[in-house]
Amino acid sequence: MMQGNVNLQRPPVFLAANTLGLCFCLVLAAVQGFGQSLAGRWIALGGKMDNGEQEMSILEVKQSGNELTGSLETLGLTAGVKGTVTGTHFELFADWNEKKPFLVGDLVNGELHAVEDGRRNIVAKPALPGDHLPTVSYIAPPSLHKVQYNGLAKTPPMGWNSWNLFEDKIDDGTVRTIADAMVSSGMRDAGYIYVNIDDTWEGMRDAGGWLQPNHKFPDMKALSDYVHAKGLKLGIYSSPGPRTCFGLPASYGHEEQDAKTFAAWGIDYLKYDWCSAGKIYTNDQLRAVYQKMGDALEAAGRPIVYSLCEYGLGSVEKWGPEVGGNLWRTTDDIHDEWSSMIANVEKQAPLAPYAGPGHWNDPDMLEIGNGQMTNDEYRTHMSLWALVAAPLLAGNDLRNMTAATRAILMNKEVIEIDQDPLGKQAWPVRHGDLETWIKPLADGSFAVGVINLGSDAAQATVNTNDLKLSGPVTKARDLWAHHDVKFTGKVYSAPVPSHGVLLLRVSGK
Ligand code: GLA
Repeated sequence: MMQGNVNLQRPPVFLAANTLGLCFCLVLAAVQGFGQSLAGRWIALGGKMDNGEQEMSILEVKQSGNELTGSLETLGLTAGVKGTVTGTHFELFADWNEKKPFLVGDLVNGELHAVEDGRRNIVAKPALPGDHLPTVSYIAPPSLHKVQYNGLAKTPPMGWNSWNLFEDKIDDGTVRTIADAMVSSGMRDAGYIYVNIDDTWEGMRDAGGWLQPNHKFPDMKALSDYVHAKGLKLGIYSSPGPRTCFGLPASYGHEEQDAKTFAAWGIDYLKYDWCSAGKIYTNDQLRAVYQKMGDALEAAGRPIVYSLCEYGLGSVEKWGPEVGGNLWRTTDDIHDEWSSMIANVEKQAPLAPYAGPGHWNDPDMLEIGNGQMTNDEYRTHMSLWALVAAPLLAGNDLRNMTAATRAILMNKEVIEIDQDPLGKQAWPVRHGDLETWIKPLADGSFAVGVINLGSDAAQATVNTNDLKLSGPVTKARDLWAHHDVKFTGKVYSAPVPSHGVLLLRVSGK
């Protein structure tokens, strides 16, 4: 697998193109043996890109008995595929989702009639032997230098991002109603300021190479005016490769133009996602490639938070600030499930020394309120993100939140831990089923979180020896119960449900 595909938890590009109105048809270049063989080479033709280039995807399949293996290649990705054929019926799974097939269909009269990702009908025909993906010319990345700090994100950015809940179903109208809800729900006043549009806003480039939004975003400047008028800021998304992770046009070879476009639209935050850049560059070139957009943003002259998204490749924490990065993803994509959330935060532990004002480790966006975890688990999610000074980017439907979701996302005392101006990231001091994380705070106090990773309720204990306090505790507060608590000597103890958390703020001598 190529570097760019480390993170293929995303819909296939066939689907992406379809969602945006491009017409794909799969063509079978099969070495059509006898009977119902799927073995061969398939090509999916899409629309014409701005430069006249034909959008296409190639699927190559080998068959052994009823087992299928092969690969899928587009400008944006290379992925392994596997599946089965029974009679005329086949199911193919791609690397990005081994649980759900991305293509299901039948061989009918030498054609492949299939449904892609459960949504889109495809008809396949034999392809010509000369069909190949267009070659993308290599652009050497610049030599290394330091990009000046833009002065932003002195505390971890707070806001909302469209991806976790809406994926490709985000549009102008939804962004506006989310911005409305950000104000009416109290989220803005709690500190959530950025309204970030993730992937699938991208249209084609015009004749001059300027990237246009697609039909879902008819007027990006008007949208940014709307968001700004509410006291909020607008974020957007692109990739240093030729395609975004969803398979749409990205910034490769157009970095300066795109940075100018974003500045002209009034964009305040850019998430820059490695994706298809991995088909062109190696991990050794990550820093130079990200520096290129860092320079372009600086030259565009508008303060724009620069969020690097490359899943922690190439020790990004060591050079993220040098390319002008304000935060960098350190993990694969989060999912709304306990194990994914915990796995992402555990990866932050060794990265603690690299976080600080202006530059943060990013274990990915919040899933709080999306429904697949319990409220105890969501309280733990919020506590851990605050402890590790993570960006707090809500990923749920702010227009429709339960009282519990509001109370979790807008717990001011927990937000204060995340936004503490000292900017230290917590690290774990005790492991096992009851894991303890400690974060030193600007006023000399500590946030202490004890997470119950076990499947039974347990008694959590905080001991001031872990805080290196030599004297007595002068004040201790339970940040979820919202009341002060009393230590007995060096110790405070309380019951914590399975997957729950005890989160204290402790002052002492
Ligand atoms: C990658 C990123 C996600 C999201 C999608 C969009 O998977 O890691 O956060 O931006 O791309 O396609």
